[in-house]
Amino acid sequence: MSDGYTVAVVGAGLVGDRLVAELRRRDFPLRELRILARSARRSVLAGEEFEVGVAEPEAFEGVDFAFFAGTEGEKGAAVQLAQEAISRGAIVIDNGSDFRLDPDVPLVVPEVNADALKGHNGLIANANCSTTQMVVALAPLAREFGLKKVVVSTYQAVSGSGRSGVEALENGREDVYPKPIAGNAIPLIGSIGADGYSTEETKMREESRKILSLPDLEVFATTVRIPVHTGHAESVYVETEREATLEEVLEALGSAPGIVFSGDKDDFPTPLEAAGEPGTYVGRVRVEGNVVQFWCVADNLLKGAATNAVQIAESLISVRV
Ligand SMILES: NC(=O)c1ccc[n+]([C@@H]2O[C@H](COP(=O)([O-])OP(=O)(O)OC[C@H]3O[C@@H](n4cnc5c(N)ncnc54)[C@H](OP(=O)(O)O)[C@@H]3O)[C@@H](O)[C@H]2O)c1
Repeated sequence: MSDGYTVAVVGAGLVGDRLVAELRRRDFPLRELRILARSARRSVLAGEEFEVGVAEPEAFEGVDFAFFAGTEGEKGAAVQLAQEAISRGAIVIDNGSDFRLDPDVPLVVPEVNADALKGHNGLIANANCSTTQMVVALAPLAREFGLKKVVVSTYQAVSGSGRSGVEALENGREDVYPKPIAGNAIPLIGSIGADGYSTEETKMREESRKILSLPDLEVFATTVRIPVHTGHAESVYVETEREATLEEVLEALGSAPGIVFSGDKDDFPTPLEAAGEPGTYVGRVRVEGNVVQFWCVADNLLKGAATNAVQIAESLISVRV
């Protein structure tokens, strides 16, 4: 489309802010940018002032791409409005978890499974932030050596819980986490299910299986909230099908799309360095036979949300699926 696309961003929170920033930074071909939230107001997103409109069905008239970054669940923006947007001709890219495991909805991390976009029904899901960065790093290992088992422990930033998480860390807001977050580490993200896993841990297992097209992959996650503003870190232990050498693993990771990797064993990425950057940072790589261990870090609001969502739209434009 030569004169650009009409884009709606639904939700003016932390992810909405980063979506505006990424659309601008990546020079997305925009004809019009609409910001929609629960109430109309003037708001500043990514340093730009917007007249925010109310997220209601008619607001999607003429929209080509609708990026959803509101709240989840029955009363959430995507459940209420995604089909309204699609019926008006929009392609919806949803940051929430409502549709990720729906077999009719592609769950896409473009570096890993852009092919899954083929034949979509108007709705595409963005993965959970902790899953996205992990599968970017797992994909080259899966391709080169095969995957048998993944054990991951996460160190997740408070901005992963949106504005309320940041308020819990910075202002001591008490109704966000089950225990104080300042000076603490909380090994519960979401709620605990009957099997003892938290919802975040279950997302990491099920979403990784879907994105990597490995329905039987063993994934054992422990997800932990820590008092960092932005940038999730993960310690990942992988058992591969075939044995690998350190050199082969460094080569596979170093040449994979989306990974920022120095290969220097004395260098390691941290959330402070990854915050504000679009890539997935990998370091601390260790290899013994068919065991690969690594550390990865990414900005949960960028690669974990906004960057990945905009990349999905760019992939759709480039292949016109
Ligand atoms: N934070 C992350 O790292 C991250 C990563 C991946 C995915 N996500 C997902 O992205 C979504 C947004 O997260 P966030 O961190 O940006 O949250 P947030 O900072 O709490 O912002 C949520 C925004 O959604 C708006 N909203 C809520 N319900 C709505 C509705 N029914 N219609 C329209 N707008 C509605 C709110 O509008 P008002 O301002 O009008 O109340 C608010 O602006 C969530 O689904 C989250 O799970 C977040």
